Amino acid sequence: MKEFNNLDLQLNRGILTITINRPDKLNALNLATVEEIRDAIQKVYDDKTIVGVIITGAGEKAFVAGADIKEISDLNEVNGRKFSENGQEVFALIENCHKPIIAAVNGYALGGGCELAMACHIRVATRNAKFGQPEVSLGIIPGYGGTQRLTQLIGKGKALELMMTGDSISADEAQTLGLANYVTDNSEEMLAKSAALLDKITSRAPLAVGMVITCVNAVYFYDENGYQTEANSFASCCKSDDFIEGTTAFIEKRPARFKGE
Ligand code: COA
Repeated sequence: MKEFNNLDLQLNRGILTITINRPDKLNALNLATVEEIRDAIQKVYDDKTIVGVIITGAGEKAFVAGADIKEISDLNEVNGRKFSENGQEVFALIENCHKPIIAAVNGYALGGGCELAMACHIRVATRNAKFGQPEVSLGIIPGYGGTQRLTQLIGKGKALELMMTGDSISADEAQTLGLANYVTDNSEEMLAKSAALLDKITSRAPLAVGMVITCVNAVYFYDENGYQTEANSFASCCKSDDFIEGTTAFIEKRPARFKGE
């Protein structure tokens, strides 16, 4: 496996756990880390043995405390745009991946950390997690897709409030708002819950799971007709071997053995 300096990668029974590993900087996302996330996610696309992903942060204190403020302090109008577009591209790779990706949020998920969690398909948090987009306190706005995804996840009014005040919210509040899917008591439970969700999702037909991701994402692509995307995806599922297997297994009253074909 490729060497990573800021990530720790562990592959276990097809589940790749990607740990952002800069705990002395609360796992802040410097550009090198963003590029390593790109490489790690590209590997998820390419490697057939990987069926699902957990993204988490090293240590007990933070998932990711944002973009690296020291690094971004040098941005100007030109490279600021590139910075934003590059991060958006990497996080879109996560969002559009056909394999399930869960953010296991163990502490601060601020700025780019909240944006990273929101790019994942599901969020499982520890009770001490804190979510927020504090960028306005630094004179900037969320630039890795946060203005869009926070609004999609929790609605315009609350998203505007959080992004205009820069306030962070507790894991329980995040769950109430629909930002966190689950809140657990500690990191062990968070990882166990994430693994259990992935076990369930990866027992389903992989092509169909991937199509669900495509179709739900299509809701937010304004140049795409999501109903058309759904009909196309449904048709693709109908020509798959897994569709024959799933329906046959039901009729024969046995568990389905999906191959992702
Ligand atoms: N970028 C760069 N370094 C960061 C960072 C970030 N986003 N967040 C934390 N760090 C570093 C701190 O500078 C500190 O490093 P040092 O020991 O070399 O000085 C270390 O991580 C620990 O952080 P510290 O602030 O001492 O921890 P704390 O428990 O007192 O506070 C936070 C935790 C998360 C409240 C605080 O670190 C914070 O507000 N971070 C910035 C959050 C933010 O604005 N994110 C959006 C960025 S766009």
